[in-house]
Amino acid sequence: MYPITIPGRVITLRELRPDDAADALAIIGDDRVTQWLSFDSRDHAAAVAMIEGAVTRAQLAPRTEYYLAVADAEDRMIGFARLGLTGHQAAKLGYAINADHWGHGYATDAARTIIDYGFQELRLHRITAAIGPDNAASIAIANRLGMQYEGRLRDHVFTNGAWRDSLLYSILAREWIQAAG
Ligand SMILES: CC(C)(COP(=O)(O)OP(=O)(O)OC[C@H]1O[C@@H](n2cnc3c(N)ncnc32)[C@H](O)[C@@H]1OP(=O)(O)O)[C@@H](O)C(=O)NCCC(=O)NCCS
Repeated sequence: MYPITIPGRVITLRELRPDDAADALAIIGDDRVTQWLSFDSRDHAAAVAMIEGAVTRAQLAPRTEYYLAVADAEDRMIGFARLGLTGHQAAKLGYAINADHWGHGYATDAARTIIDYGFQELRLHRITAAIGPDNAASIAIANRLGMQYEGRLRDHVFTNGAWRDSLLYSILAREWIQAAG
């Protein structure tokens, strides 16, 4: 399943491309964004490597990672959404939006779109998101999309020089499909 394009309501999810490197760097090189992620800010070379790695992994069969660009109406990368397949019909969800574009509903749309793809097309059973306890915006997104709080993962990630807990949220296929119907 490569390449894929998934239209959302206001954004489009599409494969990452080498010419996204500068826009990717504006996201993963920005401390406003990475303070909430499981890695520290990265430089241009790391952004290029990140895209190369994602493009390579996207073409493996079977595909176990959907690391997609969140593109605006001009096809410009303003964020990313990721489903990493783990175990049996399960996936971990991740997303980030360029800080200059926060507050417009883009992450909600991106997360909704990739979750729907996961359940409807990939036939997943369970999707989880591990969110920093202070990340109110991401917790709001998980709640709005109907994800349920499962518990606290202690010292789940080492980021910004310290161990950080995560709050684990999940949603099951039957819950998603029931809410959509
Ligand atoms: C989390 C993130 C992706 C949200 O992106 P966004 O496009 O601004 O999100 P949206 O506009 O779709 O929705 C944000 C929601 O959080 C709410 N929100 C934003 N800041 C908030 C805050 N400080 N406190 C409480 N709620 C907040 C908004 O009101 C909105 O909820 P609503 O639609 O119910 O009103 C963005 O802030 C980001 O990239 N953060 C850094 C990376 C990150 O945290 N990724 C997730 C890791 S689990």
